[in-house]
Amino acid sequence: METITTSRLIIRAFKLSDAADEFEFASLEEVGFNAGFKPHINIEETEKTIARFIAQDEVWAIELKETGKVIGSIGLHPDSFRKDMNTKEIGYVLSPSFQKQGLMLEAVNAVLEFGFDKQNLALIGANHFAFNEASRKVILKAGFSYDGLLRRAKCLYDGTKVDLMLYSFDKKQYYSQENKK
Ligand SMILES: CC(C)(COP(=O)(O)OP(=O)(O)OC[C@H]1O[C@@H](n2cnc3c(N)ncnc32)[C@H](O)[C@@H]1OP(=O)(O)O)[C@@H](O)C(=O)NCCC(=O)NCCS
Repeated sequence: METITTSRLIIRAFKLSDAADEFEFASLEEVGFNAGFKPHINIEETEKTIARFIAQDEVWAIELKETGKVIGSIGLHPDSFRKDMNTKEIGYVLSPSFQKQGLMLEAVNAVLEFGFDKQNLALIGANHFAFNEASRKVILKAGFSYDGLLRRAKCLYDGTKVDLMLYSFDKKQYYSQENKK
């Protein structure tokens, strides 16, 4: 995976040795519940997840430049809703200790640029559970347009049924916004 560098972050391929850092936040209820995965119970689970990330080649580790610590992840995944349309879907998580500092917005902006400039995507989708205010803000601040609400879209690991808010950013919209900068 290509490494993407921002002012505070190195967005790079995962290594198995990142497991301890990743476990620190992947084991937390507030992270797993909001992102839609069951919090990891032990480090072996995190190692398996990282091995899958490495094999799938679609999720980057988010490393904080200042300390070299992995504090989150971000991915460009196959689109859940559009097939064979040259589109992908962005997904991300950040360790609670590093939230509300604009770090995920910084990572999302860099990955959008990578998706449009380097992967030549026609559109990038994003979605969040209806209750996830933090993710909604990141998505809107990054410039995505709201597409709508998909009711009873997913059943979470604890049986909670959730609605999903859907967004997208298409290439034309992205570059017209860039020109205004
Ligand atoms: C969603 C998440 C990635 C946001 O990361 P972050 O780095 O804190 O976001 P940023 O600091 O870039 O914040 C962007 C905006 O959202 C706001 N925001 C961040 N967390 C918020 C919260 N808990 N409640 C309300 N607004 C919040 C910020 O204040 C900022 O807006 P502002 O510039 O007007 O202040 C992070 O909360 C997270 O990983 N949560 C758990 C997993 C998850 O929900 N993943 C996304 C699944 S769709």
